[in-house]
Amino acid sequence: MTQRFKVIDQLDLQNKRVFIRVDFNVPLDEGRVADSTRIEAALPTIRYALDQGARVMLASHLGRPKGERIPGLSLEPVSGVLAKLLARPVKMAPDCIGSEVETIVEALQPGEVVLLENLRFHAEETKNDDDFAQTLARLADVYVNDAFGTAHRANASTERMAHFLAERGAGFLLQREVEYLGRVLASPERPLVAILGGAKVSDKIPIIRNLLQLVDALLVGGAMAYTLLRAQGLQTGGSLVEEDQVSLATDLLHDAKERGVSFHLPTDHVVADKPEEGSPATIVRGDIPSGKIGLDIGPETVSAFENEIAKARTIFWNGPMGLFEKKPFDAGTMAIANALAESQALTVVGGGDSVAAVKRSGRAGDFSHISTGGGASLEFLEGKTLPGLAALE
Ligand code: 3PG
Repeated sequence: MTQRFKVIDQLDLQNKRVFIRVDFNVPLDEGRVADSTRIEAALPTIRYALDQGARVMLASHLGRPKGERIPGLSLEPVSGVLAKLLARPVKMAPDCIGSEVETIVEALQPGEVVLLENLRFHAEETKNDDDFAQTLARLADVYVNDAFGTAHRANASTERMAHFLAERGAGFLLQREVEYLGRVLASPERPLVAILGGAKVSDKIPIIRNLLQLVDALLVGGAMAYTLLRAQGLQTGGSLVEEDQVSLATDLLHDAKERGVSFHLPTDHVVADKPEEGSPATIVRGDIPSGKIGLDIGPETVSAFENEIAKARTIFWNGPMGLFEKKPFDAGTMAIANALAESQALTVVGGGDSVAAVKRSGRAGDFSHISTGGGASLEFLEGKTLPGLAALE
């Protein structure tokens, strides 16, 4: 896929005030960073800018404070983790705009870095406000966007601001995300197989529609499969079904047939009375009896999916195959993670839950690309224009 934006290594950064929009929207646990994947993913870009003698300011949102200054959503804990990873001091600014921030930025020396406070403490950020974007832009000479996870949001720091700085480009993470997800979309090596899971089919209908035009096979597991099975006339017991989506699901199955896409739904299921850790589980084929809840794909489905995975040359995976956070309902998801890890195909994973599942499998290093974007990777594969990318062009 041709990139229509500059990348950071095509920009002159020396001695410049460089604003890098990162996605440090990380999970916190009692005020500590619970998972630093997104911070680590931004390191190559930050290190590069510092090595080039840039005066670096980093900006991110954290959570959804909706314009309020919520102490629990301060980026302060992130600055500590970042300082350790970079092995250099990271100044923490008290805000992202204002005279105090301007003074800090002016005093920055080449090779120094400051982390601005949560952008969403200002409601103007998510409103893509012009004045707020201009105020941010005045802090900098160069704009770099490395926040792929937020590229689907038209926020002041991801979209509007880019228009006010002629020197702009993508960070290495954003470049890598677009490259790998782009390889799934544009002339992938075939067979191209997509595996979708997760709870709700309603969240995935746009991506299924788009993928049906591209893929050779679509494998669907997770609770979203039960709505599709209902559309095929099967009994789903007490499983999660979105009744209002059944007719749309019927249309999707019809569309897949017309396009000659092999659409695989589970043929057997791990069922239990309750969706709880350690609930006694049994395997059923076909219809799920009333009173039983489908919580994972069964072994016959796992081997059918493994067969498709073994034949594939390009694979995209989003969404777990079952309630993988609770044993024994993790087996299907772990089997799929392992099958992808063993595969010689280009393997791309997107979406928070499937990424968590890959990490849990211990095989993350065996995947071609693990996206840092949940919503952003899905919208990219839906074929939508991401505002954060468009603004860089
Ligand atoms: C994400 O975690 O998906 C991104 O950081 C975007 O966050 P948002 O959904 O709150 O805009």
